[in-house]
Amino acid sequence: MNKLTSEELGKYIGAERMEKLLCLETTDSTNLYLQRLISRGCPDRMVVTAGEQTRGRGRLGRSFDSPKDKGIYLSYLLKHKGDPGDVNEITAMTAVAVSDAIYKSCGLETGIKWVNDLVIDKKKVCGILTEMLIEGDPSEGRQNIIIGIGLNVNQETEDFPEALRSRAGSLRLFGHRIYDRAEIIAAMVEEVDNMFEKLKVPLKREEILKKYRDRCITLNKEVSVTPVAISGNTDPGDPNHLKAKHARVLGINPDFTLQVIYEDGREESLSAGEVSIRGMYGYI
Ligand code: BTN
Repeated sequence: MNKLTSEELGKYIGAERMEKLLCLETTDSTNLYLQRLISRGCPDRMVVTAGEQTRGRGRLGRSFDSPKDKGIYLSYLLKHKGDPGDVNEITAMTAVAVSDAIYKSCGLETGIKWVNDLVIDKKKVCGILTEMLIEGDPSEGRQNIIIGIGLNVNQETEDFPEALRSRAGSLRLFGHRIYDRAEIIAAMVEEVDNMFEKLKVPLKREEILKKYRDRCITLNKEVSVTPVAISGNTDPGDPNHLKAKHARVLGINPDFTLQVIYEDGREESLSAGEVSIRGMYGYI
């Protein structure tokens, strides 16, 4: 299996884009690495990728398994001026861009499990962790948005920890071949770059929302909704604090929140930082 190097990436990515792309052999977490770069000054659209992560981080304080030379571990910096709430949308749109990149470079179709997991045949192949660092005066609304993408590419079943095997997959397990990670990264960077250009155009936003809805496998599903304690949105005095609730998914709202209906007929729109969603009978 090829090692991921700047030289390999340079076969697919133009010299100008490569100037803002750092390829590491190993690091704790590409998101943390990019955070450290930002504190020293770092350009918009900077990309950090690594062959391995020793402390890969997932959503909701979980870890992200990042074995050496098997997957893609990549962080992308978006300097954003606007509402911090845009992060949900940015994460969801990245899921569409990465799904397009996988199709273009590998010919594999992926579904989206709200809000940002990519799945093939009910198995998670990719996760996205978006983190935000406010720059300067918070009232000016300048944010460094770090979009961390972890894609399982060449893992075989034994490469996953046993506890993950029932719900994790890799491109190799579905495509039955070894993929060139440099080629996929090039497609990913191109699609994500294009995505954030399109964000400025309202009509294109509609197009992205439509793609998201078409690929979203969470629609019409019976789900279990668990409030996320770390976001501080729950009241510990409430007897239902952190209790999972049964709901049916009605749709994806234009801001990418999830519209659900509970058993008592009450409807709610849920945002990713507030809840964790699981299918009633497993991951989906
Ligand atoms: C999730 O599914 O919970 C999100 C996983 C995100 C993993 C990526 S790998 C690159 C970047 N660096 C990290 O430490 N995490 C993200």
